[in-house]
Amino acid sequence: MDKLRITGGKTLRGRVAVAGAKNAALPALAATLLTGDRVELHNLPRVRDVRTMLRVLAQLGAQAEARPDGGADVRVDRIESFEAPYDLVKTMRASVLVLGPLLARHGRARVSLPGGCALGERPIDLHIEALRKLGAEITLQHGYVEAKARRLRGGRYDFRTKTVTGTENLMMAATLAEGTTILGNCAREPEVIDLARLLGAMGASIHGAGSDEITIEGRERLHGARHRVIPDRIEAGTYLVAGALIGDPVEVTGCDVEAMRPIVRQLEAAGVAIAVEGDALRAGVPAKLTGQDLRTAPHPGYPTDMQAQYMTLMTQAAGTSVVTETVFEHRFMHVGELLRMGADIRIQGRSCVVVGPSRLTGAQVMATDLRASACLVLAALAADGVSVLDRVYHLDRGYEAMEEKLRTLGAEVERIR
Ligand code: EPU
Repeated sequence: MDKLRITGGKTLRGRVAVAGAKNAALPALAATLLTGDRVELHNLPRVRDVRTMLRVLAQLGAQAEARPDGGADVRVDRIESFEAPYDLVKTMRASVLVLGPLLARHGRARVSLPGGCALGERPIDLHIEALRKLGAEITLQHGYVEAKARRLRGGRYDFRTKTVTGTENLMMAATLAEGTTILGNCAREPEVIDLARLLGAMGASIHGAGSDEITIEGRERLHGARHRVIPDRIEAGTYLVAGALIGDPVEVTGCDVEAMRPIVRQLEAAGVAIAVEGDALRAGVPAKLTGQDLRTAPHPGYPTDMQAQYMTLMTQAAGTSVVTETVFEHRFMHVGELLRMGADIRIQGRSCVVVGPSRLTGAQVMATDLRASACLVLAALAADGVSVLDRVYHLDRGYEAMEEKLRTLGAEVERIR
């Protein structure tokens, strides 16, 4: 299993370009199931989750051709299987995004239930309840969601909890339903808006993406389209935190500045000065980094996917900060590893009390999930001495060429196989 060996304390300087957003690329790939025409996707990040989604699609009968720019042309003119099997879904929960499109265009879907994960229980009950509301017959058997519908019927559904992939699944399903669907209490993430943009380009009628209520008028069919996936705000934010920890400075180019406001606001509140120039954001070690409380929340709140990285930053801030996680119940798996590197953190229910600044020292640490790995990489960059990060495959799921990008900035990072 690959590991990363990082020698900490090297100042980072220079520029990195942000990749396409993983969490926008995955629903965009699933949306190709809604038409028999070719969908041209650009700016897909070169990460393992995208390759996994392409495998899921291939299993269903999609023909995908890689583009030299990292994108892909996908065409699903014939479905060969209706099943997203356990082996794939267990490695990537987002496989559940094929449920809505398969059911809407092909009338049938069999998708493995993802089960729990390092972030908590993470059920998909709302996806199922909402699809039933559109007339799907759904049973849960042998660990699978089995769904059938002759043609979905538009209707109104209000999500009890905001769910990103739930909103996306339902938006896709409703594009081919008969009549109008109104979805209430929708997720407002930039990735939801990006999917609506793609669906619109495919001929769907969607209004309100980015607000709480989305209205979709069903169409008989959708057609091919060309779409460029938005930049990854979490990847960009991760490099900004690297800049704030040990940068002189670090510049991240190709950002969606608007989508990054909640992250930028929080970093600035802690004392990090962030310069914005066009689509580039720049951060260096601030004159004074101060402990600042954080509460994660659905967009436009501060993203849970940037919570672990922020916690690493807070270990270097003067004073106490309370980091509260409101989206996932168990998203503190990184704390134990940060403690091994010398951090002072106490878990209290859904919050962590971080006391800083503490001197971090290199250690052997283990990644438990994607964003936890990123926070450990950040800690290793700021620490004295050498760290070895095990289970790098978590990082490879969502960060394109992270060690190369870090090396460009002057970090001492190598992959050990
Ligand atoms: N929830 C339910 N029932 C449902 C669906 C969700 O109770 O049917 C709960 C979840 O358990 C959680 C909350 O609702 O407590 C929000 O979860 P959500 O459904 O929004 O998460 P997701 O759609 O499964 C996406 C991202 C995650 C990101 C979350 C929150 C993708 C592919 N994944 O997951 O990204 O953390 O939204 O913003 O878009 C990551 O990239 O590292 C990652 C985990």
